[in-house]
Amino acid sequence: MTTQSTVALAFSGGLDTTVCVPLLEEEYDYDEVIGVTVDVGQPEAEFEEAEETAEALDLDHYVIDAKSEFAEQCLDAVKANATYQGYPLGTALARPVIAEAILEVAEEQGCDGIAHGCTGKGNDQLRFEAVWRESDLDVVAPVRELGLTREWEMEYAAEKNLPVEGGNEGDWSIDTNLWSRSVEGADLEDPGYVPPEDIYEWTDAPSGDVETIELTFEEGYPVAVDAVEGTSTSLHPPAEDGGEMPAVQLIEYLNDLAGSYGVGRTDMMEDRMLGLKVRENYEHPAATTLLNAHEALEGLVLTEEERAFKKQIDAQWAEKAYEGLLSAPLVNALDGFVDATQQKVTGTVTIKFEGGQARPVARESDYAVYSESAASFNTESVDGIAQSDATGVAKYHGFQSRLANATAADAEAKKAELLADGSGESEAQRASKSEEE
Ligand code: ARG
Repeated sequence: MTTQSTVALAFSGGLDTTVCVPLLEEEYDYDEVIGVTVDVGQPEAEFEEAEETAEALDLDHYVIDAKSEFAEQCLDAVKANATYQGYPLGTALARPVIAEAILEVAEEQGCDGIAHGCTGKGNDQLRFEAVWRESDLDVVAPVRELGLTREWEMEYAAEKNLPVEGGNEGDWSIDTNLWSRSVEGADLEDPGYVPPEDIYEWTDAPSGDVETIELTFEEGYPVAVDAVEGTSTSLHPPAEDGGEMPAVQLIEYLNDLAGSYGVGRTDMMEDRMLGLKVRENYEHPAATTLLNAHEALEGLVLTEEERAFKKQIDAQWAEKAYEGLLSAPLVNALDGFVDATQQKVTGTVTIKFEGGQARPVARESDYAVYSESAASFNTESVDGIAQSDATGVAKYHGFQSRLANATAADAEAKKAELLADGSGESEAQRASKSEEE
């Protein structure tokens, strides 16, 4: 008697994951496939597509809500100013959350295997598998392992009568979660192609309107957003003034608000983990707003050397996040530094939405490393240090550079003099001659 073998498939209802369903039975001999879709804030239409496709395939389909968990992960990432090559990390932060949720279902359902529909070119295969390979389940990647192309998949789907009508909007490949929306593929692949306005869904083209909000952070974590009186607040924050706001609502609110001012567009060449350069377009209004505000607050409360060193820590953190490896021991150590600095990142930042930007225009904190009397032009001395005490410092400032430049000039002059008096030999020639003697 053989036992039933089951595989859990990361399922979106798109072409790749749809063809995976029969292939897992035909090519990998699984008796049963279950599909798992994880909600990290995709648009409703994507769930409808997944649901409909699952039904047509007669697939046992699970939808897991991981929105809150993902939203909190995004806000945590703000502490490390998490950007990769200039854009706020989005897909990369979502993949491990999705992978964990699928693994949980697979284990609960007693699956033998776990599968994704990624190709062998992208980052997501690596991010999913980094999580899954910690389990005992067999990890399966049909599209990559069978070397499938889109064309082959289309033919196979037609042959098998698979439901693949829906698909992404247009020819673009779109990945949406709470934190960002990414658009790639088709005509956008050409780095020289200027994207039409209709690739954008979250951001309006910037208008002449202006609006100001106030963001509150506690230990580096954004907790509230408030309208600033007297500015034209088009949208009302979803919590009582000053009240703490759940992560999901805070992000959704800022996406709507900042997006309406055209905040948070990126068009870039991205270096993927396997070395490919890919042209990517992103929208991330809430992320841009929160990251700008957070950095502005850090600028007020961290010392110059903390700020400088944290840049390196942040870059490392983002690199690991991009790789989907936030569970690496290194990240645990980096988090220690990040959290230590964030103890002071408590306060408020005023953000002005204007001309497609979310610009910090005021910041306040009890931890401000700022002394009005020290910075002011109207006080003679600070902490008993008189203005004139700086004279000694000013005399020394740049001393080493002056010395180095003067020495180099002398040495050059000496060399020129030697060359001029006659022999025409270079110093090196003379030196080697004198060695022979
Ligand atoms: N290249 C980005 C990353 O690896 C995002 C890819 C999103 N996928 C898409 N189909 N638009 O994080």
